[in-house]
Formats: sequence, C-alpha cells, structure tokens
Amino acid sequence: MPYTCQIITVSDRCFRGEREDLSGPALAEALTAAGFSLLPPLLVPDEQPLIEAALLAACAADAALVLTTGGTGFAPRDLTPEATLAVVEKQVPGIPEAMRAASMQITPRAMLSRAAAGIRGRTLILNLPGSPRAALENLEPVLPAILHGLKMLRAEEPTDCAKLKPSEM
Ligand code: MTE
Repeated sequence: MPYTCQIITVSDRCFRGEREDLSGPALAEALTAAGFSLLPPLLVPDEQPLIEAALLAACAADAALVLTTGGTGFAPRDLTPEATLAVVEKQVPGIPEAMRAASMQITPRAMLSRAAAGIRGRTLILNLPGSPRAALENLEPVLPAILHGLKMLRAEEPTDCAKLKPSEM
C-alpha cells in the first residue's frame, strides 16, 4: 500500500487568485514519482487558524505525510511553522536542520527558512518554502530518510533500526 500525502499550499496571493500555485503541483509530481498516493490538494491563506485546520483535516484523513509549501520566512504573515508546532505532538527538528544544511550549499538565504516538522498521531508534517524550486531543493535531500521514518511511524510492529539492512532502510 502506498503512503498517502497531503500537500497544503499556504499563500495569501494564491488563495486570492493573484498568483498561480506552482509549488503544490511541483511537489505533487515529485511525490507521485516517489510512490505516494495524493489526497486532493489544499490551498489556504496565511491565517494560522486556517493552516491549523488544514493540518488537522489531513491528520484526520490519515495522511502519512503532510507537506506544506509557503509561509516559513520572515514576513509578518509567515505563520506556517507556528501552526505546525501548535498541532504536532512531537517535534522532528532533524529534518528541517538537514534541509537547511543541504540548501546552504545552494544559497546562504536557506538560513532564513524557519521550517518545522513534527508528528501528530501517525502523520508526519513537514514545512517547505514557497517557491517551487526551493520546495523541491529542500525536499529532495530528506525524502529517503522520511520514507524510513514513515516505515517506523506506520509499522504495526515496532521497527528496530539497528537490525535493518541498508537495503531495507
Ligand atoms: N532554500 C532553497 N533551497 N532555495 C531557496 O531559494 N529560499 C530561502 C529559504 N530556503 C530558498 C531556500 C528564503 S529567501 C526564505 S525567506 C525561506 O526559504 C522561506 O521561504 P518561504 O517564505 O517561501 O516559505
């Protein structure tokens, strides 16, 4: 069974129809290629309660992975990490740390990303930047480890990482 992924675009301009959402479709293509099945995409403005509601709906729909795109920078209305941290039960700081480290090889502006990640129930939520290129550049280096993490998160039996062969990881 493929894991399900919910993509949530967070953007005032896209929500108002002033800008085309290119990041959501770009992520959808990448996730489909990685073997995920996709829930219908969501588009919300940069309003924390609406972002939280979309995240909670994705968890209620039992998405294995929720990817947000947008709202992780320094603009006053960039509130995606705050909404994420409000709904997760466990933080997973290593994923955004790895994304920033990898993207620092591409642009020093990577350090401006405030992206967060965490687990709510059996769902992993991860924030990505808003531009399609940046979203893909951030996702690509962490996706293999995410697949391993989802295996543990969604396993019926506890997974012992130490006993897994590299080919199983
Ligand atoms: N990461 C990569 N790989 N490439 C980029 O161009 N842009 C950075 C950062 N991460 C960028 C990146 C910038 S300028 C910002 S402000 C943050 O992502 C947050 O982007 P967001 O506000 O669109 O979420």
